[in-house]
Amino acid sequence: MGKILVTGGTGYIGSHTTVELIQAGFKVVIVDNLFNSVIETLDGIKEITGVKPDFEKFDLCDYDRLKEFFKKYPDIDSIVHFAAHKAVGESVRDPLKYYHNNLVSLINLLKIATKKNIKNFVFSSSCTVYGEPEELPVTEETPTKGQASPYGNTKSISEEILRDVAKTHDINVISLRYFNPVGAHDSILIGELPLGKPENLVPYITQTAAGIRKELKIFGNDYDTPDGYNIRDYIHIVDLAKAHVVALKRLLEKKNKLEFEIYNLGTGKGSSTMEVVKTFEKATGQKLNYRIVGRRPGDVVAVYTDASLAEEELGWKAQRTLEDMLKSAWEWEKKYRNIQ
Ligand code: NAD
Ligand code: WQD
Repeated sequence: MGKILVTGGTGYIGSHTTVELIQAGFKVVIVDNLFNSVIETLDGIKEITGVKPDFEKFDLCDYDRLKEFFKKYPDIDSIVHFAAHKAVGESVRDPLKYYHNNLVSLINLLKIATKKNIKNFVFSSSCTVYGEPEELPVTEETPTKGQASPYGNTKSISEEILRDVAKTHDINVISLRYFNPVGAHDSILIGELPLGKPENLVPYITQTAAGIRKELKIFGNDYDTPDGYNIRDYIHIVDLAKAHVVALKRLLEKKNKLEFEIYNLGTGKGSSTMEVVKTFEKATGQKLNYRIVGRRPGDVVAVYTDASLAEEELGWKAQRTLEDMLKSAWEWEKKYRNIQ
């Protein structure tokens, strides 16, 4: 069995997936430039699994360095590609940074993969490709749209690139469209480490409860939804990580029906922002300081998935509840901030 290259493997989703891959018996080598993660994550992975994966620090946009890397690791047979910039707001302010990083790194990997006869490729896509969907829940058939952000565009364009390359080369691709991943590993040895002020809801909640942020601003309560708040499909990071193992096995065992497959990864259940806040308070016993403010520009009103295709084809289904997600996010925040 060959090695699995996990790009972005010290990042949030990559580190949790590396743990699941190692626990499933895979040998992993991580490439990350540590732009948005820390090397200590490898210690967490080692403590959980007993294995410290191979690690190489470099930028995937550097094609020469990537070529050298593949000379050192000739036995790689699959790639799970997480590495990307992901801050939606920043991508609007600095689109070229996003187009360059997210697309050049993908193209470089595909150039090498097709040369080296690497046949299996799992890609991190996002529910952002659906924009504001006309019908809910969204399925993999729901039309994708021109995106509101350059970040979102990089995901749609990446999928098109992958679709074309899978058509013309002997490489099979599964693109996983994540909904809203939250929470941390049960061991609390790895979790999400947002740099600076978080843009996402759950890290903002846990940092507010930890006293790092004064209050959570809830963006809008006048949406056309049952309680007036936005709705999202939050998914536990460990459930999400496990889906990658299943997807990779499907490719390795040649069980995929198409050379390019897409799966939505969510729980299938939408939760409103206020439900998340109330569930956090109930699950953790922490009173949250929050205030309702105006809408955040660009927010979609509601998005959640029909989770049936992943269940039927991959045999994968999210197991954990919103309460589990928020509890583990809080345990991670407490540990990280040294709160008793
Ligand atoms: P993350 O920032 O924690 O991890 C990404 C990792 O990639 C980081 O460690 C970063 O240092 C590394 N990286 C970025 N560009 C690189 C490059 N050019 N060369 C080498 N390393 C590079 O992000 P995450 O939340 O773990 O997201 C992983 C993937 O999932 C991304 O592709 C993201 O777009 C996608 N995604 C994330 C979410 C989410 O809400 N977290 C939702 C949908 C999709
Ligand atoms: C969730 C809800 C906010 C912060 C983003 C990306 C998307 C995908 C997932 C990568 C919304 C509300 C938030 C706050 C709030 N990522 N909120 N106060 O917007 O669904 O999606 O992450 O692919 O591309 O755009 O996630 O966590 O930012 O927001 O009220 O301080 O929480 O309005 O309704 P979102 P989020």
